[in-house]
Amino acid sequence: MTKKRIGIFTSGGDCAGLNVAMMAITKRAHQYGWEVIGIRNGVDGIEFGDYYTIGEDFPWGEKIREGGTFLGAYARGNNTWTFVSEEDSIKRDLQKGIGEKIKKMKLDAIIGTCGNGSLLFYNRYAIAANCACILLPKTVDNDTPGTDISIGFSSAAETCTGMLDNLFWTSRSHRRAFTVEVMGRDAGHLAVRAGITSGADVILIPEIPYTLENIYKKLMDVKKREKREFFNIVVAEGAGAEHGQNLENEKCMNSAEYVSKYLESRGINSRAVSLGHVQRGSLPSQKDRLLASQLGVYAVDVFKENPKARALVGIRNGKLACTNIEDIKDYEFVVDPKSEEVQTALKLGIYMGEIA
Ligand code: F6P
Repeated sequence: MTKKRIGIFTSGGDCAGLNVAMMAITKRAHQYGWEVIGIRNGVDGIEFGDYYTIGEDFPWGEKIREGGTFLGAYARGNNTWTFVSEEDSIKRDLQKGIGEKIKKMKLDAIIGTCGNGSLLFYNRYAIAANCACILLPKTVDNDTPGTDISIGFSSAAETCTGMLDNLFWTSRSHRRAFTVEVMGRDAGHLAVRAGITSGADVILIPEIPYTLENIYKKLMDVKKREKREFFNIVVAEGAGAEHGQNLENEKCMNSAEYVSKYLESRGINSRAVSLGHVQRGSLPSQKDRLLASQLGVYAVDVFKENPKARALVGIRNGKLACTNIEDIKDYEFVVDPKSEEVQTALKLGIYMGEIA
């Protein structure tokens, strides 16, 4: 194989382990004698020509221990052209424009991390540039298709469990319920993991409708059986209102507040807490460092095998797996109510809603 030039990037919301992924891609590429170009701020770096060569003397020792991404991500919410609709993107010729810029960079492949929002876009840029595109799944939501686990999920789940541990003591001291909102967008993976590992009484996720009355009944049952008046309720940010309704008509910031208000109305001392962005900014856990290392190395090897590959790498059933991006039909990997993890929660007596 002739000498290659690859562009590496991190895209979408930050999470722990992104720098480790960049390290693994770079080191593997350098082993093949290839040139590695670090693109700053996701697709912004391509648009504005903001990139640089990453040499073998790069200080990876520091980087793999840091949170976030040293390359930067695009400024979410402040970007006029990354996440426009497909029609708008075609109309404004954005894919072609970025494709032309990638061609000018003389890249044979773009290899980087992204979530289910950005993966399609990078593939389109690569098609327009006629280069390879290998993507590594990352997100605290764990909702990227083609993989059982995304980079960043384990670290965020650890953070959530730690925060819920802190709340436990206050909850016990004041005999109070805490309804705690965790991230996840439209998926409940983080809530399920954090809920089970923090001894939750209730876990609410977007995939399973719930009723307020049955949450109340569950807490009353706990009170009677365990003689306990403090409760742990973990709520995924996308859980919505009861019966699968959305929150639009409720005067609440989020589902945790909605449930908390109801509990207060039934005489339960309750507070709502939203963990927010602290979930994203932790240092990478050992699990995430390993996953990012494996996927980074594998991504480069997939490209070496097939210089025209446009693929998403991941882990399925414990093994490295590669999916053609064009073959991805379903972009949301959500919680399966029949999964072993949910079944474990149910067998622990956790109320998870009205499972059919
Ligand atoms: O996709 C990751 C995520 O943290 C979601 O869980 C959350 O809904 C969203 O990003 C927050 O986005 P932002 O960082 O743009 O506020």
